[in-house]
Amino acid sequence: MTNALRLGIAGLGTVGTGVLDIVKKHGGLLAQRAGCPVVVTGVSARNKGRDRGHDLSAFAWHDDPVALAKSADVDVFIELMGGDSGPAKAAVEAAIAAGKHVVTANKALLAHHGTALARAAEDKGVMLNFEAAVAGGIPVIKTLREGLAGNGVRRIFGILNGTCNYILTKMADEARSFADVLAEAQKLGYAEADPTFDVGGFDTAHKLAILTSLAFGTQVNVDKIAIEGIEAITLEDIRNAAQLGYKIKLLGVAVEHEGGVEQRVHPTLVPKNSPVSETDGVFNAVVIRGDFVGDLMLEGRGAGSHPTASAVVGDVVDIARGNRRPVFGIPARDLKPFKQAPQKAHEGGYYVALRLLDKPGAVAAVARILADERISIESIVQRGTATGEQTRETAPFILITHNTLEQSIRSAMGRIEKDGHVAGHPRVIRIERL
Ligand code: HSE
Repeated sequence: MTNALRLGIAGLGTVGTGVLDIVKKHGGLLAQRAGCPVVVTGVSARNKGRDRGHDLSAFAWHDDPVALAKSADVDVFIELMGGDSGPAKAAVEAAIAAGKHVVTANKALLAHHGTALARAAEDKGVMLNFEAAVAGGIPVIKTLREGLAGNGVRRIFGILNGTCNYILTKMADEARSFADVLAEAQKLGYAEADPTFDVGGFDTAHKLAILTSLAFGTQVNVDKIAIEGIEAITLEDIRNAAQLGYKIKLLGVAVEHEGGVEQRVHPTLVPKNSPVSETDGVFNAVVIRGDFVGDLMLEGRGAGSHPTASAVVGDVVDIARGNRRPVFGIPARDLKPFKQAPQKAHEGGYYVALRLLDKPGAVAAVARILADERISIESIVQRGTATGEQTRETAPFILITHNTLEQSIRSAMGRIEKDGHVAGHPRVIRIERL
């Protein structure tokens, strides 16, 4: 058998130990699939003494991931530390400069430096693989880069954060609070070290930026994503949505228009009969519209040790097989500069939750403003039919609009808030009629 492919793993947390599990369990299978033995030769992590359920004594230990990245005993550097700068960036750059292939699960690093790193890797003739960076175990990168190479992609969207989907699902199914379910997700190892990354929508944005680049051949640009997280979603919203035939999901959406690409991350009402509405718990789903293939949806576990490690090891086997292709599907130097589509031009349906003051003319006042802004109502839930939050002074008033321009909704909400017939701020959630 040919020489072994030698792996250096930086980061032995949830995903790193998952990779060790796979290499240990499937050594023989991997050797057959890769055409050579796949062995771990070196590791690096913050805490040497922690029990990870693996004997690390056979691996060279490096306190410094950069030293591991440059080590003569490593062919493939696997970066599982996370973070868009600092040691992760330094080590990946060092590995590429030293002519090592790189496999990373680091979406933040790619979202911020993907184009530059892809150029560096392509200039050096090494692979930079990142299947694990988007949607955990779902092979969406390979699908976009290889399986759909014959298509122009028109639109891509998905549930890209397992933690958020887990939280929204549990809130709905078990009528539990946001904070309670978040704590559980952290215990189960789904959430990022800083949960704001998950619940604030940033993790989804990082993943969306990577998908956008692969889908539309643009330079990676995470700064031009309108991001809204799920922190403000209440049980009340989830119940109202259910009553109106919708579920609430955190979606990342990218659409190519003539004027540029629209990228957005926000909680979204999706019809209960749409395929993504069935994607619950820690599962992720990605829907891709290709001009020849039509719509396709990939679904699977988007977070957790073994699903994410599965994607890492798939990338390693690809490298062993000599499967060489541009990092983002077309040479990095040919990626178009990212051009943002004007956000105010977005058109879609909206869920609007108001607390209407209990006085004559309140409904008429709201209706007048909506009519002025040419916003058409699809359905309404009023006092007595919506649950909770009803007081003597205010009553919930829930509207679902037909497709409306974003600027009309913004303008209407500004006027309604100032008009003196509602308490608090209107709550607005987009609807995607998929
Ligand atoms: N925290 C991420 C999630 C892990 O919940 O999906 C995978 O990126």
